[in-house]
Amino acid sequence: MPEVNTKSSQRPTVRILGIESSCDETAAAVIENGRALLSNVVATQIDLHAKYGGVFPELASRQHIRTIYAVIDQALQQAHMTLEDIDAIAVTMGPGLAGSLVVGVNAAKGLALAKNIPLIGVNHLEGHIYSAWVYPADIAEPPAPPEFPIMALLVSGGHSELNLVNEHLSYQRLGSTLDDAAGEAFDKVARLLGLSYPGGPSIQKAATDGNPQAFSFPRAKTDGSFDFSFSGLKTAVLRLVKEFEKEQKALPVADIAASFQTAVVDVLLNKTLKAAHAYQAKSLLVAGGVSANRALREAFLGQTEFPVFIPAFAYCTDNAAMIAAAGYQRYMHGDRSGLEMDVQPTFPLSYING
Ligand SMILES: Nc1ncnc2c1ncn2[C@@H]1O[C@H](COP(=O)(O)OP(=O)(O)OP(=O)(O)O)[C@@H](O)[C@H]1O
Ligand SMILES: [Mg+2]
Repeated sequence: MPEVNTKSSQRPTVRILGIESSCDETAAAVIENGRALLSNVVATQIDLHAKYGGVFPELASRQHIRTIYAVIDQALQQAHMTLEDIDAIAVTMGPGLAGSLVVGVNAAKGLALAKNIPLIGVNHLEGHIYSAWVYPADIAEPPAPPEFPIMALLVSGGHSELNLVNEHLSYQRLGSTLDDAAGEAFDKVARLLGLSYPGGPSIQKAATDGNPQAFSFPRAKTDGSFDFSFSGLKTAVLRLVKEFEKEQKALPVADIAASFQTAVVDVLLNKTLKAAHAYQAKSLLVAGGVSANRALREAFLGQTEFPVFIPAFAYCTDNAAMIAAAGYQRYMHGDRSGLEMDVQPTFPLSYING
């Protein structure tokens, strides 16, 4: 009997270097075949911006310039690789701060040109979605990936969207926020309560000692659509804070934080479930910085109607592992960017088939 050559039927290993610099994290990562993470380096600028209560754009781009090559070097070293081992470089081209995006894109272009490596511009939001596919390369058993069609809730500092993902790289946006993004609401309400930046983790911490039923905050229905609105909720918190100030009473920060968090989680879970039923989704996916929220994770994992995929904590806020994972899908799809690639500060999810 002739020997069967199983090697030729095996898929070749594809290694993508991801680079992310859209906001206030400088990040690089190496991923194998779109899922197995070999390295993941994130240099956060949170301390640099904390005293301004938000990201200071010029400081952000200059800090990216200082750290980006060191971060890329570290990611390659941790993966025990050099650029010669990399099949493509995926870089965030938008959405984000223009001055910050330019640093990552130009760094990627320089390396791609010097080493003749394919370059792929990636949408940051697509990256957040693909963070749910990432797992550390050293685990024994890779987790099963989400099953299509997926109802994807994207909740971050700049976005709140429900997307139906029919297959890889195919998105249909069903709804988005009419005003503030969910993360933005966390950040603004934290400021009202005198809590530190970034607001999400501060509210989560304060809420642990609070009663989520202490105050009944509004849940915007947005006329039965799949859109979100958080400005009414934020205004309700503001009004309450003013009442306490007027009466010179101590602000019940923990109770307000817990009640606010519960209102946000309720709206996000109910809309996602409604959309998942309406579009016969087979699984739910929650991604973006707000998906790090413990109450949100517990609420989604606690429902029993759909399997739920939420990235591990390390891949919820901005990172390059997710950019490399999305870049892999783009690479397999045949997408390549030229050296004339520009940044796209406002860049909706690209609908290849949607
Ligand atoms: N535990 C948490 N609970 C709630 N919100 C959180 C938590 N951790 C982080 N966030 C929020 O996530 C947001 C940051 O997420 P992310 O880094 O994905 O946003 P961004 O990159 O600034 O925006 P975008 O991805 O829309 O461009 C902030 O608004 C932050 O308050
Ligand atoms: Mg983000």
